[in-house]
Amino acid sequence: MRRLTLRQFRVFEAVARHLSFSKAAAELHLSQPAVSMQVKGIEVILGLPLIEQLGKKIYLTDAGREVLHAGRAITARLDDLQANLAQLRGMDTGRLNVAVTTTVSAVATDLLARFRGAHPRISIHLDVSNRESVLGQLAVNRIDLAIMGQVPGGLDLEATRFMDNPLVVIAPPEHPLARKKKVSLHDLASEPFLVREAGSGTRGAMERFFEAKGLELRTSMEMSSNEAIKQAVQAGLGLGILSLQTLELELALGRLVVLKVEGFPIMRHWYVVHRADKRLSPVAQAFKQFVLAGADAKPSRRK
Ligand code: PGA
Repeated sequence: MRRLTLRQFRVFEAVARHLSFSKAAAELHLSQPAVSMQVKGIEVILGLPLIEQLGKKIYLTDAGREVLHAGRAITARLDDLQANLAQLRGMDTGRLNVAVTTTVSAVATDLLARFRGAHPRISIHLDVSNRESVLGQLAVNRIDLAIMGQVPGGLDLEATRFMDNPLVVIAPPEHPLARKKKVSLHDLASEPFLVREAGSGTRGAMERFFEAKGLELRTSMEMSSNEAIKQAVQAGLGLGILSLQTLELELALGRLVVLKVEGFPIMRHWYVVHRADKRLSPVAQAFKQFVLAGADAKPSRRK
């Protein structure tokens, strides 16, 4: 049995759409007899007329409408397939521009490493800076995605939460408060603190917490990295408030301890963020899905 070809479907679709052999021929850059031959070919295979000619006008028969319907479904499937494959090609060799805040950089690097393991041919550009700087990069549309703490209103961003980020109070193990089973906020009030630079999300959260509790924050030193704060706390220069996720090693080695302070941890969260108007590339879309997979993600749009 002879089979219908895709070419026949495409030619017939054009004839049926225009209800004209000559217009279909012009659209397909074919001669009119060549178009008629393709249509005749289908009619021979199916053993039914697809077109009726009454005077100068042509009409589709019932069989013609059936063939048109099936042909459109088949070509749409093929177009989808082509689009999907093009996306996969983009995925394979694409480039991903991500900015993350300092505090989430270990979590983010781990996610990126695992993502790249599954897509080894993509190239990744990762910028690590503080919250203010990451927000600036989103504002000028320099990056595909950001991973950071909660975004403020005012920028048209889509932020989806994917992970908790508890902030804790840290001290050297020999600090007098380290022995206390319960440290009150009043106990904290007389302690000097090492704080991150202005523009840091951790610093902002810490300041908001102190203000909400009506406490004065006594800062002994300001530093632009979590690592420097940990070292300064170990050296006895003051207490620190940092994300628990940055402290794994120091806590495991007993170089720092987490104080049991009432009202702590301050529970923050990590978000995947992009501009609401951004058309994410296939790679960026795939990375976003990868980050959110398994997370209790709730998208929110902040204007
Ligand atoms: P940062 O990160 O303190 O390193 O700026 C926290 C955040 O993203 O809010």
